[in-house]
Amino acid sequence: MSLIIHNTGMLVQTREENLAFTAGKDMAVLPVIENGWLLIEDGIIAGYGPPETLPRLSSDIPGLDAGGGYVFPAFCDPHTHLVYAGSREKEYTDKIRGLSYEEIARRGGGILNSAKLLHETSEDELFWQSMERVREIISFGTGAVEIKSGYGLTTEDEIKMLRVIRRIKQESPISVKATFLGAHAIPALYRDNRSAYVDLIVNEMIPAVAAERLADYIDVFCDRGFFTVEETARILEAGARYGLKPKIHANELDYSGGIQAGVRHGALSVDHLEFTGEEEISALLGSGAMPTLLPGAAFFLGMADPPARRMIEAGLPVAMASDYNPGSSPSGNMKLVVSLGCIRLRLLPEEAINAVTLNAAYAMGLSETHGSITVGKKANLFITKKIPSYGYLPYAYGSNLVETVILNGEVVFDRAAGNRQ
Ligand code: NIG
Ligand code: FE
Repeated sequence: MSLIIHNTGMLVQTREENLAFTAGKDMAVLPVIENGWLLIEDGIIAGYGPPETLPRLSSDIPGLDAGGGYVFPAFCDPHTHLVYAGSREKEYTDKIRGLSYEEIARRGGGILNSAKLLHETSEDELFWQSMERVREIISFGTGAVEIKSGYGLTTEDEIKMLRVIRRIKQESPISVKATFLGAHAIPALYRDNRSAYVDLIVNEMIPAVAAERLADYIDVFCDRGFFTVEETARILEAGARYGLKPKIHANELDYSGGIQAGVRHGALSVDHLEFTGEEEISALLGSGAMPTLLPGAAFFLGMADPPARRMIEAGLPVAMASDYNPGSSPSGNMKLVVSLGCIRLRLLPEEAINAVTLNAAYAMGLSETHGSITVGKKANLFITKKIPSYGYLPYAYGSNLVETVILNGEVVFDRAAGNRQ
């Protein structure tokens, strides 16, 4: 199956070399081809170039007229919790009234509230609720998503979540990576015996998850009021014995030592990082751990933003993700994340687009196949309406500009024709 996209305004993020990620000053570089064409063969990007090299449109290659729209690599979203039951807008109102995220959690709300709801929801129902979110993020231009467990908090319910994630992977055209997050919160039952819950994660949950090969990565919420650095170390060491690489939540609520713990354990990414100082930045430099920022969460909770500019000036790469979850970021809209990156983190549009494509692909172990327009990579793309420049994408922060989404070389969403998934 071949398809040639022509009459584009621009191809954005065209990389001849297979680059793992872009860091420091290079993050402001975003290669483009004006009015380019792009050829897809068997789900893979087979060629692209400037208009003068457009292969003759032969009658056997179907053409797709982009109508002057811009072609981007589909967003990669390397940190979500999109498998969850119900919603938590009551806590949202409590927050407006002045309760903090941590106070809500202490009163049994927050993650524990979602765990209770999830326990009461059947696996099938959880799948359908989650698939609705998956279809929505695809229509917003996301082509790869990492999804965490962590609203189970018992072996049975963690496995239930991970099976739902596996089913999404099997039944949706989106690329999926699964992360085991048994250490998301201490369940009420273990409040006075935290080490017993860590024992349960280490001795029962991790082996059960590994036995069914349900996870690619392991995560711990290493932060004030959640899991300590010592508990994190125990869990990550146990995960490593089963081949699970860490991608951890760190320094959202305090200078928790989580960033250094992630680096020590060879994390692929350390995520949140609102509390990042010079020590944390030096730990990250050269570590291979992708600093992954979640501006939607700080925005929604009205909390401090991470020092993205200082990180980039120090030579670090940054990725961004939606953190799609019912408590701190009930949105998986990556275009909005790009805008928040520019508005709140003061990223340039080029830096923000690199953060949600190339660098985000790295943060989920997909940089060889996703995150840029490169020959040989998966044809996961979106085409916008006709727009004046790529800077218009974050600038028009409330407009949905995504017209067509192509995953594995096939049109899976077309605003004009209706959703085809
Ligand atoms: O990434 N920080 C921890 N976990 C989620 C929030 C989960 C929730 O409140 O349900 C986050 O923000
Ligand atoms: Fe999160």
